[in-house]
Amino acid sequence: MSSERSSRISGFYKMPVEERVKAISDQVGLTPEEQKLLKSGGGLSLEAADHMTENVVGTIAYPFSVAVNFKLNGRDVFIPMAGEEPSVVAAASNMARIMRNGPGINVISTPPVMIGQIQLTDVPDMKKAVRVLKEKKQQLIEMANEVDPVLVKFGGGAKDMELRPLETSAGPMLVVHLLVDCRDAMGANAVNTMAETLAPMLGELTGAKPLLRIISNLADRRTCRAEAVVKKEDIGGEDKVDRIVQAWAFADADPYRAATHNKGIMNGIVAVALAFAQDHRALEAGAHSYAARTGRYRSLSRWSKNGDGDLVGVLEMPMAVGLVGGATRSHPMAQLAVKILGCTKAQELGEAMTAVGLAQNLGALRALTQEGIQHGHMRLHARNLVVMAGATSDMVEEAVKQLAESGQIRFNKAQEIVAKLKGQA
Ligand code: MEV
Repeated sequence: MSSERSSRISGFYKMPVEERVKAISDQVGLTPEEQKLLKSGGGLSLEAADHMTENVVGTIAYPFSVAVNFKLNGRDVFIPMAGEEPSVVAAASNMARIMRNGPGINVISTPPVMIGQIQLTDVPDMKKAVRVLKEKKQQLIEMANEVDPVLVKFGGGAKDMELRPLETSAGPMLVVHLLVDCRDAMGANAVNTMAETLAPMLGELTGAKPLLRIISNLADRRTCRAEAVVKKEDIGGEDKVDRIVQAWAFADADPYRAATHNKGIMNGIVAVALAFAQDHRALEAGAHSYAARTGRYRSLSRWSKNGDGDLVGVLEMPMAVGLVGGATRSHPMAQLAVKILGCTKAQELGEAMTAVGLAQNLGALRALTQEGIQHGHMRLHARNLVVMAGATSDMVEEAVKQLAESGQIRFNKAQEIVAKLKGQA
């Protein structure tokens, strides 16, 4: 990723869109065509859409934003995010701003290993099946790799095989896990092809009946970790640190709260995933199953207080993302997102997503433990309303202030305030 950028752009959120596009272009060097694409309203032609899925009759656009202030492993990055929910990008950028006062966000990832599952039913002799497959492991891995020489050439491919006898309501089964390093691909195609290729041979060797052959979305071998220290004075003092730790402990202890807490983390992660045309369903499935890996559904993040009274946050989770072989390659906006982030490896995208998830989580916990979540939401809602009511950029701030002070954050009130301000102009 580029190291020369400064992602700290003060007042970015207050700029008109044109100015924001210019600010980002200046930093990442967008061409006039790319700038035009940003303003094109979605960037996907009907023809391209028609090739992407079935029964296409149109396209749908989401706001495409850039989160600022992120510093990952000492490097400044801009992180594209897309989605319909207000406050998400603002919260991520705000929390990234206070996280960069410390050492920034440290990110790290495991090799991009996904799991392919092959289900063997009607196993005549479980012990013998396990023994035979252990003996033939190397040959089976080689056989899997023959179907994807390109992946192997880039250092990826099947690396290991694990055997998991499983008791189920339909009787005992042997589940074979093929561990595949997918490099810069999300990997579903490569893994599924390998699993389908191996299945008949596994059946022959064990005398069992192969049934399912499919990737697992519990990508617990392909994880990213983001960690940040937030100075206590940047979050309102040590008592606020304590409250955030208590709020986290609530989520970690109670699945009802953990679901919402993790949803907040996914607000950020899915927004980045959408901007990069990633399989966000796979990410959601991976995240929530990972959150339940101890047998109880828990928080994906951990928050604690260090010896200096500062807040320490860690988010570790599966990150099945890819830059090649999927829609990221074919969607022009996703290609633009790759350029804005400046990532060359899928792992870098996963690390950026995890950092956003951590910042997003802090934004929610900070708001929930202090003024409550509605305060920020209503201010953004007020901003949307005055813009919809026709406020010009020079009057937006004043109109938002008046609307918020009126206590009636409604469209007709916004219209009234904007009309009055226009009358005074
Ligand atoms: C809303 O989209 C997300 C939050 O509910 C997350 C949370 O409660 O931690 C604010």
